[in-house]
Amino acid sequence: MKRIIIDADTGVDDSLAILYALRSPNFHVEGITTCFGNNNAEQSADNSLRLIKLSGCGYEVPVAVGANESLEGVFESAPAFIHGDNGIGNVELPESSQKPLEESASDFIIRKAEELKGELIIITTGRMTNLALALRKDPKLPGKVKKVVSMGGTLNAPGNITPYAEANIYGDAMAADIVFKAGFNLMLAGLDVTMKTFITDRDVENLCTYCLEECRPIAGYIKDVLKFYFEFHRVSMGMANACVVHDPLAVLIAEDPSLGMFKMVRAGVEYENEAFKGMIKTDNGFVPDLDREEIAVCVEVDSVKAVRRLFSVFQDMTPGRYNKS
Ligand code: RIB
Ligand code: CA
Repeated sequence: MKRIIIDADTGVDDSLAILYALRSPNFHVEGITTCFGNNNAEQSADNSLRLIKLSGCGYEVPVAVGANESLEGVFESAPAFIHGDNGIGNVELPESSQKPLEESASDFIIRKAEELKGELIIITTGRMTNLALALRKDPKLPGKVKKVVSMGGTLNAPGNITPYAEANIYGDAMAADIVFKAGFNLMLAGLDVTMKTFITDRDVENLCTYCLEECRPIAGYIKDVLKFYFEFHRVSMGMANACVVHDPLAVLIAEDPSLGMFKMVRAGVEYENEAFKGMIKTDNGFVPDLDREEIAVCVEVDSVKAVRRLFSVFQDMTPGRYNKS
């Protein structure tokens, strides 16, 4: 059982990652911490609380609100056509009676790292601001957590916010640079693999047909939220009835790294030069720095297996019942 915190800017793809983690028998979600990005940190917390309720995971999952601006004091939110006005494709999920903790996201991360004595895995699906703030308060944090797995960055794929940068890394490039160099056991699932992994309407149909009775409300949510997200992919990328898979891949790789192939690099993030802000600089070409810990960047992934696994936790997988196509 892997003990994880998900640090999210709870938008459409974050919500799939969260629902998967809450239903997977291989995870215990110790908490969800939130950050600005797809929306503000409070909205992300509210979305996370609604998703915990929807998941029916059967255990308590605390939610802590985090940063509402980058380390450099900038608040930027994704345009509403990507994740909707509420971050989850304008789908109205039932409200939760659970309230967020009084504790900040960074304090919560530090506390859980202490409590779990080296067992904690932190999965980030948004900006790395909360983690950088936690590091500022506790520079020994990298030695206290098992691993950090992040959706973010790109080595060779084109950026999705500038030609060189992925949105989560660009959104707080200074925080990412700090986290990259801090000595965490860090794995990245970035655009090199997320842009090659697709959910299609066929997957959604299968999910709805073969979902477990208790997961019907989840399947209904996924259908609605992906309808919105597919439209964004149609308009911006010309994709028909499909979307790429960002945040769920980080959770899937945290659960089972054998889904991917990794390149080890020593890396930093550009944050001073505006034109290249958010670009990952590696020892391959830019910053030979042999004293720094290597990070593992996922460069290949078994996308078919990943998507099948993503939906498997909501489905009846009895042989013969589940349509494998
Ligand atoms: O670049 C993709 C990332 O940006 C995803 O985490 C998505 O949710 C947005 O935050
Ligand atoms: Ca995200």
